[in-house]
Amino acid sequence: MIPKMGRRGKFITFEGLDGTGKSTQMRKLAAVLRAAGHKVVETREPGGTPTGEKIRRVLLDSSTEGLAPLAEMALMFASRAQHIEEVIVPALERGQIVLCDRFTDSTEAYQGSGRKLGSAVVIELHRLLCGGLQPDLTILLESDPAMSLGRARRRNQAAAHRANLSKAGLSKSGSGSNKSAGKHPDENRFEQQNRAFFVRVREGYRAIAAREPQRVAAVDASGSPGQTHRRIVEVLGRRMRLAPRNA
Ligand code: TYD
Repeated sequence: MIPKMGRRGKFITFEGLDGTGKSTQMRKLAAVLRAAGHKVVETREPGGTPTGEKIRRVLLDSSTEGLAPLAEMALMFASRAQHIEEVIVPALERGQIVLCDRFTDSTEAYQGSGRKLGSAVVIELHRLLCGGLQPDLTILLESDPAMSLGRARRRNQAAAHRANLSKAGLSKSGSGSNKSAGKHPDENRFEQQNRAFFVRVREGYRAIAAREPQRVAAVDASGSPGQTHRRIVEVLGRRMRLAPRNA
């Protein structure tokens, strides 16, 4: 069971379409927070625990065929319930800042809107399986769907290519400095969806932001990573009281 939190830490989630640069921005923010003396946990969904990473493989591998939308949603929540119990709540109870790449808003946008399962079932499952745990702040990165999707597809193709080279013994590591290095080689299942799907996902995100403006901050991510980072730091300064720890 999820303990009712007298929680001391802060829970910040990053959301947006594939390829909006969430993981880069998360890394940059983590560095700033650590430099200010905070203890920071960086994690992601689906995944974030050994069991969750196994579930992630099933969900994102493009060899997974014919997964029913309800099964897809159930697996997202299975990964999340494990993640909350094993990583997120313990870190919050230790007073740490948890930065999470995607959370339940992704399920509402992708499965609720994208797969047309609706918001109500997502919100109900969140209440039942996640104890209603809400982020203190959600950064919603917004950019043009065609641009971000193109970026995500190129990144995943590059990862798959490196994996093939390394399987063939032509490359020592198959690694790189970007997010794809930490990715399973073939995480293309969602990127193969059509444009209409991603338009629905974006509309889903917009509806969440309009419904919960006190929690969700939309940030323009169409500029350079540095510009987006400065906007995020500004949002944090405005919305959260994070006393610098080493001042
Ligand atoms: P992620 O690794 O964040 O992808 P990207 O870096 O390309 O944004 O997320 C993996 C995919 O999983 C992404 O396409 C969105 C999808 N997803 C859902 O459909 N529902 C969910 O609840 C979550 C957490 C992710």
